[in-house]
Amino acid sequence: MKKESEKIEYILEVENLHKTYNPDSISPVLALKGINIKFEKGEFVALMGRSGSGKSTFLHQVALLDTPTKGNIIFDGKNISDLDDEEKNKFRLDSIGYIFQDYALLPELNLFENISLPMMAKGVEEEEYKKDVLDVIKKVGLEGLENNLPSELSGGQQQRVSIARAIVNKPKILFADEPTANLDSESSKSVLDTMRSLVKDYGQTVIMVTHEQEDDDIVDRTIWLKDGVIEN
Ligand SMILES: Nc1ncnc2c1ncn2[C@@H]1O[C@H](COP(=O)(O)OP(=O)(O)O)[C@@H](O)[C@H]1O
Ligand SMILES: [Mg+2]
Repeated sequence: MKKESEKIEYILEVENLHKTYNPDSISPVLALKGINIKFEKGEFVALMGRSGSGKSTFLHQVALLDTPTKGNIIFDGKNISDLDDEEKNKFRLDSIGYIFQDYALLPELNLFENISLPMMAKGVEEEEYKKDVLDVIKKVGLEGLENNLPSELSGGQQQRVSIARAIVNKPKILFADEPTANLDSESSKSVLDTMRSLVKDYGQTVIMVTHEQEDDDIVDRTIWLKDGVIEN
């Protein structure tokens, strides 16, 4: 019998995941065609594949931003596929961080307020979350810029705000969809370094969509998608 310490702990298990867009139309799009994959706690995984191969669709399903056509999504041993919308929302706010390619910051809110959004959405009072927000601002290297609006920040800084917002709730898993696609190479490097240090220092699990082959060096594993199936 294996000792407890030798047992691999999976944070996310995906079983037979399908997503068909416009299923009742004359031309349904079979974007995911039966994905089976497991992610270990603390893994930094790159998800690669050509444009249209289903990378964003995969991320949307496992991050509970969309509803799969078929299949199971098991988080930390719990099958979340059968949760109703309200339960899914709560689970997402508590357990999942998501970083968008275009940062998705609110332009009228300053840096501190943008990062506070997940706490505000949960109805937490500012005095309770203020320290966590300041800690996370430090972690991503944006101290002193708390009052800046997104328009007063560089692209790389904006993406680091979006990373901070995604991790302020201490999510079990962090998803990032081409987080460096709109950045110059220096800003890309600093964003990737930030992600890498989250994995290293906090055991954060990160699944990152990328089309940059060189990102391969900093991740633990690379998965390839082709036409809605996993290739490797
Ligand atoms: N909302 C949608 N409605 C219909 N088809 C979609 C939608 N989103 C994506 N698709 C299609 O699903 C396939 C996979 O897309 P996507 O997941 O965005 O690929 P990737 O992120 O790898 O570029 C593509 O054929 C795309 O056109
Ligand atoms: Mg995409």
